[in-house]
Amino acid sequence: MTVSAIHAQFGNTPRNYQHITVIPLTAAMGAEIRNVDASNITDAAFSEVEDALFRHKMIYLRDQTLDGAKLEAFSARFGDFAEDAYTDGVDGYRNVQPIIKEADEKTGWVFGSGWHTDSPFLARPPAISILYGVDIPPVGGDTVWANSALAYQFLSPAMRNLLSGLKVHMSIRDVFASAQMKGKPGSGPVGKLVALRGAANLPPDILRNIEGVFHPLVRTHPVTGEQCLYVDGSYAIGFEGFEEEEAAPLLKFLTAHITQQSFTCRLRWRPKTLALWDNRLCIHQAFNDYDGRRREMYRTTIAGEAPQ
Ligand code: SIN
Repeated sequence: MTVSAIHAQFGNTPRNYQHITVIPLTAAMGAEIRNVDASNITDAAFSEVEDALFRHKMIYLRDQTLDGAKLEAFSARFGDFAEDAYTDGVDGYRNVQPIIKEADEKTGWVFGSGWHTDSPFLARPPAISILYGVDIPPVGGDTVWANSALAYQFLSPAMRNLLSGLKVHMSIRDVFASAQMKGKPGSGPVGKLVALRGAANLPPDILRNIEGVFHPLVRTHPVTGEQCLYVDGSYAIGFEGFEEEEAAPLLKFLTAHITQQSFTCRLRWRPKTLALWDNRLCIHQAFNDYDGRRREMYRTTIAGEAPQ
């Protein structure tokens, strides 16, 4: 049976919540949350938002008025902040990471290009990412997500059996190389990697992130128990015990399988849109398709567990 014939089984339907309204984005994943002010949210509404995040993998709220303090305060409701592998935060709010591309900036590579889950090369990768749009190009600059739990569900039992027990090697190696080759120097997350071009010695954190870690390829969500594929097209570079030529076709297949359009959703940003996603359950990608236009975003990440 083809995926399109069975999309009715995808299950991206809202639960019956008391305090929030949920409008699913696609059959596969994503939902808009309405009737919530992130800067002034009750505990009851917050716990429904969190539940909706786990259910829909990516959620977004329009028309949120947030400054650094409010974005940090809302984010902190989900847990401790994660280690950020890329930036030192904005003045006064070190957990709020700027992701800005200026109108006159022409670059072959923007932060988040390529399908990825956030910072999986860390021993405890961030669980949740939260992104707030301030300045949005009139066209372009969308973000797209793919549901890696759904993708796992739609593998054959034989393939699931084959994958079980495998460990995926997550490393910043290829992202670092692409940023250096195609990115522009600057103060942002990409610029900081580019600035290391030609460096005789790389800083210890970069060396550690290039070495990376091995995580279970099939991981289980710590709250919902849902199983998903933990693999992406940017940071996954191999499997424990596999030769590179053996791993490459499997990595290619898994990324293509997860990112088939049936399993995705795409967000058209507007200023004051707040999006949240669960890095354990989905992967995402930013586009570099708005040269000549400014895009200003702020991101926080919430600490996660060692994948199990
Ligand atoms: C990210 O990959 O976290 C950034 C996504 C975006 O800028 O749309």
